[in-house]
Amino acid sequence: MQITPQAGKQLGVTVKGFDHTTASEADVARVLSAVYEHKIVVLKGQQLSPRSFHDLGSRFGRPEAYYEPMYHHPDNPDIFVSSNVPENGKQIGVPKTGKFWHADYQFMPEPFGITLIHPQVVPERNRGTYFLDMGAAYRRLPDELKRAVAGTNGRHSVRKYFKIRPSDVYRPISEIIEEVERKTPAVLHPTTFTHPMTGETVLYLSEGFTVGLEDADGTPLDDALLARLFKETGQLDEEMTHEAVHLQEFEKGDLLVWDNRSLIHRARHTTTPEPTVSHRVTVHDARPLYETAAA
Ligand SMILES: [Fe+2]
Repeated sequence: MQITPQAGKQLGVTVKGFDHTTASEADVARVLSAVYEHKIVVLKGQQLSPRSFHDLGSRFGRPEAYYEPMYHHPDNPDIFVSSNVPENGKQIGVPKTGKFWHADYQFMPEPFGITLIHPQVVPERNRGTYFLDMGAAYRRLPDELKRAVAGTNGRHSVRKYFKIRPSDVYRPISEIIEEVERKTPAVLHPTTFTHPMTGETVLYLSEGFTVGLEDADGTPLDDALLARLFKETGQLDEEMTHEAVHLQEFEKGDLLVWDNRSLIHRARHTTTPEPTVSHRVTVHDARPLYETAAA
């Protein structure tokens, strides 16, 4: 197994020679530590059935099935399917997922540490996923912003990007909103926390899911602070030209594994719709997302 940094990129390594049928526990541990150190690992040459993808994902941690069943793979609920390619005339999974900055499950009480994506149908053009490193983003913040977020919490909700389900057609929108708020009430996480695996301070907020900041007593902070943090971290640049934005390209046979604590990501916009299908497994590793807010 060879691990090589991605040339000219600020994040990520590629791994060649990883065979899921023969990989030892030590091999898996080596890949996992590369995920924490380099944040994105691309395992090359993987051809995984849903079952073997799930089994491999389980070696990295405990899988968490997505809470909305419409995203599930028909043969395995732990696999989340993003697809705009119908099979036998039937929609499988959900099209156009994640076209906004987010960390997976940030709106839930216990987000998981690791995301694995195995692209199945890869677009000809405009392939890839955008990433921002929110550990590096925190280090770049001016001191006054570091002081402004110290000891605060972020409030996160799925409400802006909850996807209407086929069963919602003809329902009043107020009823759907009420259901979203009841089933997935907004949650609080520290605005900065210490990454339990690396000790890095992470700025944990995203334009897609973070809806407000509040001080330690629960008093809401001015929305201008949150807007400024989005801007400083590159999340408001619709052209994706901010120097911190990393475009992770992929090809068929890749398996991407990334650190869902310190990275936020966003699906790439395509102006002309191209067929695209990917499978995702998300896992809780040996530690919670965070144990302590950053000091
Ligand atoms: Fe995502």
